[in-house]
Amino acid sequence: MADVVETGHVVLCCGTGGVGKTTTAAVLATEGARRGRRAVVVTIDPAKRLANALGLDALANEPHEIHPSRWDPKGTAAPGGQLSAMMLDPKATFDALVTRHARDAAQAQRILGNTFYRNISSALSGTQEYMAMEKLHELHAEGGYDLIVVDTPPSRHALDFLDAPARLLRLLDNRVFRLLMVPTRTSLRMAGAAVQTFLRTTARVIGAEVVDDIVAFFRAFEGMEEGFRERAHRVQDVLARPETRFVLVTSPQRDAVEEAQFFATKIGAHGLTVAALVVNRLHPRFGDEHAEGLRARAASLRELSVVGEEARAARDHLAAAYDNLADFNEIALRERRHLERLRVRVGQAAVAHVPFLPHDVHDFEALAEVAALLFAPDAADR
Ligand SMILES: Nc1ncnc2c1ncn2[C@@H]1O[C@H](COP(=O)(O)OP(=O)(O)OP(=O)(O)O)[C@@H](O)[C@H]1O
Ligand SMILES: [Mg+2]
Repeated sequence: MADVVETGHVVLCCGTGGVGKTTTAAVLATEGARRGRRAVVVTIDPAKRLANALGLDALANEPHEIHPSRWDPKGTAAPGGQLSAMMLDPKATFDALVTRHARDAAQAQRILGNTFYRNISSALSGTQEYMAMEKLHELHAEGGYDLIVVDTPPSRHALDFLDAPARLLRLLDNRVFRLLMVPTRTSLRMAGAAVQTFLRTTARVIGAEVVDDIVAFFRAFEGMEEGFRERAHRVQDVLARPETRFVLVTSPQRDAVEEAQFFATKIGAHGLTVAALVVNRLHPRFGDEHAEGLRARAASLRELSVVGEEARAARDHLAAAYDNLADFNEIALRERRHLERLRVRVGQAAVAHVPFLPHDVHDFEALAEVAALLFAPDAADR
C-alpha cells in the first residue's frame, strides 16, 4: 500500500457500488500528502459530511487546497506534502472540453446552447466515466500534482471508464456520425436515401425538432473530432503508464466479491494490473475458536443448574454471548472464504483488510483511523 501512495502518480479506486471507493480515495490522497507528496483527490458524489470535511463545493470543478491544519493537526507529516480535493462535475468538465476544442467562441456557444447537447452531456451513459478520465488527464497534463487519486462512479458499468476513450473513438469513426457531420445540405442529399429515410422515420417518432437539434449538434462539432480523438488516445496512454495504479476496493460479501472478480478480469483484459486490493468493512475474528465449539459451550451453560434468579439471568446472558460470538466467527470465516479466489485472481497485488468500524468515515479523524489500519504492517492478516 505504501508503494501505491509513494510511487504511484495516478491512482484509480474502482469497485462496485457502496464498497468504500470514495473513502479509500480520500484516505490514499491524505496518506500521500502525509508522506510529503502533492496529492489531489477527485471524488464523485461523496457523502455530504465527507464533502464538508474536504471543503468540497459542488459548484467548483477545480481542485482546492485543504489547509494542513485540517489533515495534519499534529504537524507530523513529511515536509512538502499538500492535499487538494475536488468533486467531479461531469457537465462542467464536458463544457470545458467543448470550449477547449472549439475553433472559436461561436462554435462553443453553438454546442453548449444546443438542446440535445444539454440533455446528453449529463445523461449519456458513460459520460461520468469519461469525464472522470478527462479530469484525470487534465490534472496530469497540468503537472501540479505528484499524486492524483481518482474515485470512480458507482455505476453498474463501473469500469466503463476504461472503455470510454475507445468508445468515443468508435463514435467518431461511426458512419452515421460521419454523415451527420457533413456540413452542407447537398451532401446530406448525397448521403443517400437510406439516411434520409432514417432521419424522417426518427423525426416521426421523436419529433422533427429533436432530430434538427441532433443534426445541428453533430454539425456543430465540425473540425473538433481531431482534438477529441487525440485526447482520447492520450487518456488511454495515461491509463497504461507504469505509474498508474489500480486499487480494487471490495467488501467481503459474496456479491461484492463476485463483482470484484469481474473487475479484476476486466482490468486484466485491458492489459493492466491491479496494484492493490482493499477489502473494506471486514468482520474481525475474535479468537480462533470454531463456531461449533462456542455453540456447544452455550448449550451446556444453559443446562447448568444454578440457584437464584440473578444467577440464572447471568447464566443465560453468558450463553447468549457465546452464541453471539459463534455468529460473528461464522461470518468472519465465511467472509474470508469468499475472498480466497479473489486473492488468487489479483495475484501479486498488495492486500489490505479494513475492519467494519462502528462509525462512518466522514471526517479527517476517521480517515486517519482507516489509514492507520490500511497501512499497518499486518493489514493483510486480519
Ligand atoms: N471500514 C468502514 N467501516 C464503517 N463504515 C465505513 C467503512 N468504510 C466506509 N464506510 C462508510 O460506508 C459508506 C460508503 O462508503 P463510500 O461512500 O466510500 O462507498 P463508495 O464505494 O464510494 O459508494 P458509491 O459506490 O455509492 O460511491 C460511507 O458512509 C462511509 O463512511
Ligand atoms: Mg463513492
